[in-house]
Amino acid sequence: MSNQLDRLRILAGNLKADVENKINGFERKTKIITVASGKGGVGKTNFTLNLGIALGEFGKKVLILDADLGLANIDVLLGAAPKYNLSHVISGKRTIKDIIIKGPNDIDIIPGGSGVFELAQLPEEDLNTFFTQLAQIDNEYDFLLIDTGAGLNKSVLSFSLAADEVFIITIPEPTSLTDAYGLIKTINKHRYVGKIKLIVNRVTSREEGEITGKKIKIVVERFLENCDLQVLGFINDDRMVIEAVKKQEPFLTSYPNSMAASDLYHIAADILDITYEKKINKGLKDYFSRISSLLRG
Ligand SMILES: Nc1ncnc2c1ncn2[C@@H]1O[C@H](COP(=O)(O)OP(=O)(O)OP(=O)(O)O)[C@@H](O)[C@H]1O
Ligand SMILES: [Mg+2]
Repeated sequence: MSNQLDRLRILAGNLKADVENKINGFERKTKIITVASGKGGVGKTNFTLNLGIALGEFGKKVLILDADLGLANIDVLLGAAPKYNLSHVISGKRTIKDIIIKGPNDIDIIPGGSGVFELAQLPEEDLNTFFTQLAQIDNEYDFLLIDTGAGLNKSVLSFSLAADEVFIITIPEPTSLTDAYGLIKTINKHRYVGKIKLIVNRVTSREEGEITGKKIKIVVERFLENCDLQVLGFINDDRMVIEAVKKQEPFLTSYPNSMAASDLYHIAADILDITYEKKINKGLKDYFSRISSLLRG
């Protein structure tokens, strides 16, 4: 492991410790979830944003950190053009609080900005400022969701190791599965103590989702020590996601009755350990109960 990675890892790890120390005696409220993938373009950013919105709809206070500093992903999906981003925080011109933008359901977003720089490359004092600021605001939220860039770079690994849970996104293609396994293996090798959960995106059937999840789980359990991978769920391949991306709107707000939205609500409900009745079913149920009451006269 390079010195640089060591440095970033320690600083990122401090994020949790810092919050715990600051709230002294109180249980830390914020759950930190890092969303990562081996292969790029598998749906991390769409998942993170829409999961945040779903958790918001279920009454949770959510902060999303766009840690993919290569491309300004989240704000593009929201059709937002934030004036300030992380580069302004790192240069000391703005605080994290100053740059937060609002998303649907009162979620807060820290825009990454599209300056091509990596957190790991920054001088230590800049990194320190960033993580200290993040630790300070972190406890106002129930969830801090961190969207990372493609592949396994130093920042992705650090944000993963610092999180309570890492959500790995894959699609059912063999190359994506191999890369997802590679990422799980690397995180596990660094003695990660949190939970690693898998989400299979763009499935064409429930069966495909289940089979894909099982495939990775079997390999992980066979070849990796002390790695209990949970398959959190799957999301259907849904052209409404593509339509929403084109409109620069989250699919959950543009197409709340789409299959992908329903899958996302289910995943959010599972995370919160609550039951969720599909919106569309509820609509139909209301409709049929209205008809039957009309027929009964
Ligand atoms: N469930 C889905 N159904 C259909 N298309 C999808 C789905 N999820 C993602 N996509 C498509 O994949 C594209 C890439 O998604 P997204 O930007 O969320 O991936 P990413 O993993 O964040 O990419 P990167 O690695 O570049 O950050 C979307 O623009 C959309 O066209
Ligand atoms: Mg992305």
